[in-house]
Amino acid sequence: MNPSPTVTMTPTMMATIRERVRRIKTMPAIPAVFLPLLKLLAKEDVDVEEVVRLVSYDSAIAAQCLRVASSPLFAMAQPPKSIKGAVMSLGLRRVETIILTCCLGQAFPAKKWVLDPIVFWRHSLGCAMVCRKIAEKLAGADREKAYTAGLMHDIGFMVNCLVFPKEFAPVMKRACEEGIRLDEVEHATLGFTHCETGRALAEKWELADDIIEVIAHHHAVEDSRKAQPLVALVHLSDLLCRMRGMGYGYYERHKVDLIADPAWAILQKQYHDLEGVDLVRFTFELDEAVETIHTLVSMIFGPTPATP
Ligand SMILES: [Fe+2]
Ligand SMILES: [Fe+2]
Repeated sequence: MNPSPTVTMTPTMMATIRERVRRIKTMPAIPAVFLPLLKLLAKEDVDVEEVVRLVSYDSAIAAQCLRVASSPLFAMAQPPKSIKGAVMSLGLRRVETIILTCCLGQAFPAKKWVLDPIVFWRHSLGCAMVCRKIAEKLAGADREKAYTAGLMHDIGFMVNCLVFPKEFAPVMKRACEEGIRLDEVEHATLGFTHCETGRALAEKWELADDIIEVIAHHHAVEDSRKAQPLVALVHLSDLLCRMRGMGYGYYERHKVDLIADPAWAILQKQYHDLEGVDLVRFTFELDEAVETIHTLVSMIFGPTPATP
């Protein structure tokens, strides 16, 4: 695999991106409950009543959470009638991930974008689920943090669609036509990538440092200084999704060798139990999860288009 291009951002370029992100008028407001919820969930002892109270503030999100929680995906004998009921039967951590996903779906409603939003969400949610599946195999890894990191890692593409649509359209076109990685074409054409635009938005939203680190470095893991194992986990999950048909709606020609990827070594250094993971088998296991992901994305963001 080609090494990920490391973008050398000048302070002026980064300041320009930040300024343009700051001035975004078309950016839909993030639901008011999202940031307090993220802060609340980061605590060791999460207060269930507080979570229920926050979610109940936003009736649209509460309704969507209940719809997802009642779906066959969670195979419940009795569909929950209230958020508290959902928390009791599904468990707080599962409900949290549903809530976060619904919040992001509200923040970025499906409109006509350069990058199809349904394709985008399928990739983001797929990556979130793969991150959590890998984290489940690693003793001591924070599964829900991994899920959130996977869900948010590519928010820079949304910034590109909203703030730089004219510049981003030919990037997307060329990547599709030539089967090249999007970040490579962004770097060559724009001089910056969705990692920088995503970072600017994540800073504006005051997301946690490790999530900002993932957004900024998931295509150049070795540049990460603060949360390298989490960045490596997201990087590998991102690759796995793209290998299993949950990429950006086009076929990428480059060869992927997960074991030879520097991120694998970084993760192995942190988690010794990774040696017991049969990656080839795990990759095939993911195919079973793909259907579930498509269903969940359709429920939250609308019907999933056929993959080209
Ligand atoms: Fe990315
Ligand atoms: Fe990605």
